[in-house]
Amino acid sequence: KRSVVLGCGSYLPQKVLTNAELAARIDTSDEWIVQRTGIRERHIAAEGEFTSHLAINAARAALEHAGLHAQAIDLIVLATSTPDNTFPATAVAVQNGLGIHHGAAFDLQAVCSGFVFALATADNFLRSGAYKRALVIGAETFSRILDWNDRGTCVLFGDGAGAVVLEAQDQPGSSSDRGVLTTHLRSDGRHKAKLFVDGGPSTTQTVGHLRMEGREVFKHAVGMITDVIVDAFNATGMTAEDIDWFIPHQANKRIIDASAHKLHIAPQKVVLTVDQHGNTSAASIPLALASAVKDGRVKKGDLVLFEAMGGGFTWGSALVRW
Ligand code: ACO
Repeated sequence: KRSVVLGCGSYLPQKVLTNAELAARIDTSDEWIVQRTGIRERHIAAEGEFTSHLAINAARAALEHAGLHAQAIDLIVLATSTPDNTFPATAVAVQNGLGIHHGAAFDLQAVCSGFVFALATADNFLRSGAYKRALVIGAETFSRILDWNDRGTCVLFGDGAGAVVLEAQDQPGSSSDRGVLTTHLRSDGRHKAKLFVDGGPSTTQTVGHLRMEGREVFKHAVGMITDVIVDAFNATGMTAEDIDWFIPHQANKRIIDASAHKLHIAPQKVVLTVDQHGNTSAASIPLALASAVKDGRVKKGDLVLFEAMGGGFTWGSALVRW
């Protein structure tokens, strides 16, 4: 069996926050932010707009793109680090919002790598035959956990959601067949204090704020990203030449450019949305994917490479024949 992508969709909150608006509030500048990160603006969820709302909108767009009714879905894996509540899982709010009352829905937390982890999880459930069709969603409201007085972090993140629909299909399983070809996940908790939230139910009984040693994250990012992509190449016999589109986690343009360069992936194959979305953590890959599908860049049969790295650290890659 193969997990074939039937469709994708995304959702961004209406409000756009520009670098200039940030510079009016804190000691920063458009020039500093663009030069260090490539970010120009980000979307911010409205009051009362929760991660589940963004996720439901993205899921509906993906179902419409796939030409499927919500009832066809029997598995929802939602990647988020900014759930509506400590529990229940935001995935069950999404399931209920879509009117689905069968199958299973759960959250998965791997911070910025969440979408790749969720894709790998759903892929394994579908290939095992346990479920037939899955919604894999990345949805975040990072604006709610930012310290808006910390210029080193608050300029980097944004809110949004993206989703894909996967279906288990009987396939001979060659690399030219459509579907998820391979996934590779890694984590190493020795780095857990480099990027974390300083609150939580068991520690402080508060939600807390994102804290990051930016330089430390930067230092490890490119090596980890390229290692796990080489794993994907080794597993499939594919090379950078075979890749049609590179859709990385959108944290920072400099990390993306350095990773593509190190892997010899041509710049014109790189999908970039970090300029418009900022870092939307688990939502960034499906947001970028949906924009590249919508504008006609990603076409049926294309080989698409996803990668992500984030808090934990966690990191991962996925190769998908679209
Ligand atoms: N505006 C203006 N100046 C700033 C800002 C800001 N928004 N933020 C920090 N500075 C200042 C610092 O105070 C410091 O000033 P000083 O020299 O007077 O002390 C100076 O800029 C340099 O600070 P650094 O943190 O060393 O700057 P650096 O060049 O490392 O850039 C950045 C910071 C952009 C965070 C970078 O380290 C980075 O991109 N790291 C990767 C982190 C990342 O992308 N994380 C996302 C989550 S993880 C993931 O998704 C992979």
